[in-house]
Amino acid sequence: MTNKKRLLTGLQPSGSIHIGNYFGALKPFLDMYTEYESHLMVVDYHALTTLRDRDALTENIYSIVKDYLAAGVDPEKVILFKQSDVAEHTELAWILQCLVTVPFLMQAHAYKDKVAKGLEANAGLFSYPMLMAADILLYDTEIVPVGEDQRQHIEYAREAANKFNNTYGETFITPQEHILKGVGVVPGIDGKKMSKSYHNTIPLFATRQEIEKAVMSIVTDSDGERPENVYAIHQLFASEDALDALYKENEGNYKALKEALIEDIDAFIAPMRERRASITNEDVANILEAGARKAKERALRKMMDVKERIGVIL
Ligand code: TYM
Repeated sequence: MTNKKRLLTGLQPSGSIHIGNYFGALKPFLDMYTEYESHLMVVDYHALTTLRDRDALTENIYSIVKDYLAAGVDPEKVILFKQSDVAEHTELAWILQCLVTVPFLMQAHAYKDKVAKGLEANAGLFSYPMLMAADILLYDTEIVPVGEDQRQHIEYAREAANKFNNTYGETFITPQEHILKGVGVVPGIDGKKMSKSYHNTIPLFATRQEIEKAVMSIVTDSDGERPENVYAIHQLFASEDALDALYKENEGNYKALKEALIEDIDAFIAPMRERRASITNEDVANILEAGARKAKERALRKMMDVKERIGVIL
């Protein structure tokens, strides 16, 4: 390992990634990953908390790695791997679960939201934060680029690291979230946080028609001078100065503003879309295999230390 600081993030392969995922996590990662010792994960075991369709999961794994590569991730400069290839993640998650309490995990937003909706959470969702903590702690990660909705999960990872360190001696680094102002919560077409579960997304690799459909259905307030929901998305794709002029010129003309947004999104996505089309499933499989080998080596080394400390090595 080099002396560079370690960076890690992951996205669930639970469907098409959207512009919230891109601006909230992937782009911040891309902007910094070459300066760090970087790890980028496909968190397929986390996706199991909601997805039980075998073919869909396999397809989503291929798809998300293509998304990463098309967005500009250079597999030579990062360890790109999927969680299920490194069993040490679930192994460490178990050890961490034995250190935290049920009331502590009951405070997790994802679990609380599920219960508040009157739904039954599976045990995987309940212990989700400790698997995520394991993802992060296994690689001595210092910085985790994520969107605002993951802030609490990084706090949980810190807490798990502290619990372990206090019990068994300094072993884990306490990680810090890296959440950028302005993109921590990218709004969807209804103005609420963009999220697959709210059906308000603009997929990152949408076709022109899909972009048109999504943008045309952005909810616009009828009395405001500026359609805020349109503007909030637009500012991700154009400078403030350009938008000030555009929005002044087209004041009240929501249709023209939406059309301008469609053009800007399409111009932004087109080169990535093209790059993505040239990536094959075989490319993905090869990259994940190489990534798994490197990640596994690191994870095994860390787990040896962990196992030594907890007293299971004879
Ligand atoms: P996931 O797959 O739900 O989302 C992936 C990333 O996208 C960010 N994001 C957003 N950012 C801004 N605005 C939005 N509307 C928006 N929607 C999603 C998320 O904050 C996230 O950074 N638990 C994680 C995956 C994970 C992970 C990890 C992340 C598992 N292990 C270790 C970092 C490190 C999740 O479900 O993300």
